[in-house]
Amino acid sequence: MFNKIKNKLQEMKFAQNYTMMLPYIRPYWKRAILAVVITIPVGAMDAVIAWILKPYMDVVMIEKSTSASMFLPFLIILFSLTQSLFSYLSTYLNTWVGTKITMDLKGRLFKKMLRNEASFFDTWNSGDIQFRFNSDVDLACAGLLNNLKMFFTRFFSSISLVCVLFINSWELAIVATVILIIALFPLSLIRKKIDSLVTAQTFSAGDLYTHYNEAHAGNRVIASYNLYKILQTKFQSTLRTLFKLGMKLVQKTALISPVMHFIISFGIAGVIWYGSHLIITDKLTPGGFVSFITALLMLYTPIKSMGKIFTSVQLSFMAMERISALINRKNVIQDKKDAKKLETIAKNIEYRGVSFEYIANKPVLKNINLDIKAGETYAFVGGSGGGKTTLANLLPRFYEIYNGSILVDGNDIKDVTVDSLRDNIAVVFQDNFLFAGTIRDNILLGRVDVSQEEIENAIENACLKDFIASLSDGLDTEIGERGVLVSGGQRQRIAIARAFIKNAPVVILDEATSSLDNKSEKVVQQAINNLMKDRTVLIIAHRLSTVKNADKIVVVNEGEIKEMGTHEELIANPESLYSTLYKTQL
Ligand SMILES: Nc1ncnc2c1ncn2[C@@H]1O[C@H](COP(=O)(O)OP(=O)(O)OP(=O)(O)O)[C@@H](O)[C@H]1O
Ligand SMILES: [Mg+2]
Repeated sequence: MFNKIKNKLQEMKFAQNYTMMLPYIRPYWKRAILAVVITIPVGAMDAVIAWILKPYMDVVMIEKSTSASMFLPFLIILFSLTQSLFSYLSTYLNTWVGTKITMDLKGRLFKKMLRNEASFFDTWNSGDIQFRFNSDVDLACAGLLNNLKMFFTRFFSSISLVCVLFINSWELAIVATVILIIALFPLSLIRKKIDSLVTAQTFSAGDLYTHYNEAHAGNRVIASYNLYKILQTKFQSTLRTLFKLGMKLVQKTALISPVMHFIISFGIAGVIWYGSHLIITDKLTPGGFVSFITALLMLYTPIKSMGKIFTSVQLSFMAMERISALINRKNVIQDKKDAKKLETIAKNIEYRGVSFEYIANKPVLKNINLDIKAGETYAFVGGSGGGKTTLANLLPRFYEIYNGSILVDGNDIKDVTVDSLRDNIAVVFQDNFLFAGTIRDNILLGRVDVSQEEIENAIENACLKDFIASLSDGLDTEIGERGVLVSGGQRQRIAIARAFIKNAPVVILDEATSSLDNKSEKVVQQAINNLMKDRTVLIIAHRLSTVKNADKIVVVNEGEIKEMGTHEELIANPESLYSTLYKTQL
């Protein structure tokens, strides 16, 4: 029997979820306990009215006592007042504790989410992130506490009413209690019924957010391809899915309350029948019977709503499980326990037999060997999809190497802290993300230790001076979400200015010029040349004219290094891949 209960509890993941929440409740445990304790009088006072009916009936109606008739209404008002005050306090405390816990958990989750590795963001879409990291927390914390509060209130109300039953007649109370337990039984079935539905619902809810995000981020593509209808259709279809799932959920859970209701009617019928018998045989006073019936009827309300509340509690628990999965999710890219801080990269960067795959058994890089000396420029060229970006992305540990290793100044990048490694590498992506805010915000990226002179140098070197001078707000010009208010070339140069401020010894430049027209390419190219001075550079470029002066040109195709050498060395062989590439570009 005990094992069965234990299994049941585990199945409901009761204990697991409860312990998961503990650290978040701990800072507020006094108020949390108070919030629960208050539900006892709030619930229990329901019984007072039923209980008072017995003396009222027996003393006032039958014995016609006037003192009692004065006293009882007053008592009822007093009790109601106290109950209302407690109820207010309970709601207030609950909201306070719930909101605090929600805040803490959201904060913790956001921190965790930010730190997730690139492959996490490859597979999770934005809507899922919003739903799972935000809405789920509301459901799990504030929603749960609120429902628990109601559940406890109803529960204590039921217990106290059952006590009134026992005071009036233990025989009747036993009948009522048995029926009550039978009526509560369907609650234990809820979880099993809704599990798969709720999971499906979670995904669809995430999809809904993704539609909104796509409508915002993709508004230009949508407008230029007239995608309104297609997107509307997709959106409607998600809404329909959610509606169907929602209705199925109601189908499965809404029946529980009516069933409980029905079972209880047997209890009431039985009690009335048996109660009449007790009165006739003088075993029960009429006052006792009225009080009993009132208590029984009052039991109805809490029991009926317990079905609904219990479903909500289950939904909250399920949200908590999803959160628990997120919190326990292991980040692939983490500091080793004894990871040391990497001060600088002053000697070399070495790729030793590096292999990599995004998807199992689909190698993207095969046995890459490179030895880049500090101060050298390595240019990566080759066909699209060859693996150039991937090769460069492995250095700052955006992805974890599958086989082989990368060493910086002789240290395996897995042995140094991720933060210190990345501090030494500035990356200029092809499509650089700009944050909502000013140009200054986007160049400084939160750093406060940068002098005015450094900022001016960065702007000068990034060829941004003229552009910024032309703006009435200068550096403090707002550039909109994702930097939509600046041009492609300006965006590139802002990203390059960032790299100047970062002043890292190693720079990765990924195709920074390929999306620009000739004129802006020239300016960006100048900025890039400035950035490459006195640094170790990994540059990826489609236009070979930009990489002629590199110390080594590496031709990467199908995940392998096909050729490597200086421009002159590679061009000397007319059969080389590089020569062919070079000729086609001329
Ligand atoms: N996040 C990812 N998840 C799964 N596969 C990916 C991912 N990124 C790239 N790939 C695949 O890995 C291969 C190499 O991609 P990569 O971006 O490194 O090529 P590239 O040489 O930079 O190409 P391009 O010159 O077009 O930029 C491609 O086949 C690509 O489809
Ligand atoms: Mg690329």
